[in-house]
Amino acid sequence: MDADEYRRMADAGDRHWWYRNTRLLLAELLVPHLERRANTDPGRRPLVLDAGGGTGATGGWMTRYATTVLADFEPMALEVARHDHGGTGPDGRIVGHGLLPVQADLNRLPFADASFDAVLCVTALCHRMNPDPGAIVRDFARVTRPGGVVCLWEPGVRRLRRGHDEVTHTGRRFSVGDMRDMAVGAGLQVERATGAYSFLVPPAAVIGLVERKEDEKSDVGRNESGLGGVFPAMARAERWVLRRTNLPAGLSAIVVATKPA
Ligand SMILES: C[S@@+](CC[C@H](N)C(=O)[O-])C[C@H]1O[C@@H](n2cnc3c(N)ncnc32)[C@H](O)[C@@H]1O
Repeated sequence: MDADEYRRMADAGDRHWWYRNTRLLLAELLVPHLERRANTDPGRRPLVLDAGGGTGATGGWMTRYATTVLADFEPMALEVARHDHGGTGPDGRIVGHGLLPVQADLNRLPFADASFDAVLCVTALCHRMNPDPGAIVRDFARVTRPGGVVCLWEPGVRRLRRGHDEVTHTGRRFSVGDMRDMAVGAGLQVERATGAYSFLVPPAAVIGLVERKEDEKSDVGRNESGLGGVFPAMARAERWVLRRTNLPAGLSAIVVATKPA
């Protein structure tokens, strides 16, 4: 990603309505799994992987429930993540159950089989440097412990292209079906496959049409309040719906799948 985008992501992480709601939705999807893993083996703190975790803006919250390895190839992102979410002390020990930033390429994960209780990957498979996202998901399954969970969250609606995609070097977007297929292809059992931010698809499509005539634009840092609170209210309502059912499409596409025990 552009260097400026990391700065915007880190700065916006606390303020921007999208990040706040995304963390809440991720927690609703993942906390029951993290608690179940903690109860399975009470003497052991769960270990999770935030794959392509960037600055930790969407996955840093997991440090409350598990020791969290954040893998990303961008040193600048790892530096911000270490600063914002803790890490290791001079003796190599984990500080405050913090986040452990590791420089790694998702196409060649440097982790042993069955290392993690959970793998989270938010908007990284879509990156241009990942020619075979399905192969990466198979590797996520490899490094996940039996009974563990993999949660993938990617840009939804294949045909949508926006200036924000250029800034974030997004090479592809995924349908909910694509997400399900990748999880099934990796031998995982799909628990949830759903769209999210469905209410943003029409405005994003309009912005995409307008922006074609303009320079590349990032969504991060703009409209932090979400039209003065309208989008956060709609996101809250959508979270209520998502507690009850899946949505066929959305500006984000999500799959939550477990590795057979
Ligand atoms: C749009 S950012 C999202 C970051 C974070 N997951 C979040 O939600 O805030 C995508 C991140 O994935 C990382 N990434 C993409 N492909 C990668 C790969 N093959 N190996 C390591 N990191 C990768 C990029 O460096 C970038 O930090």
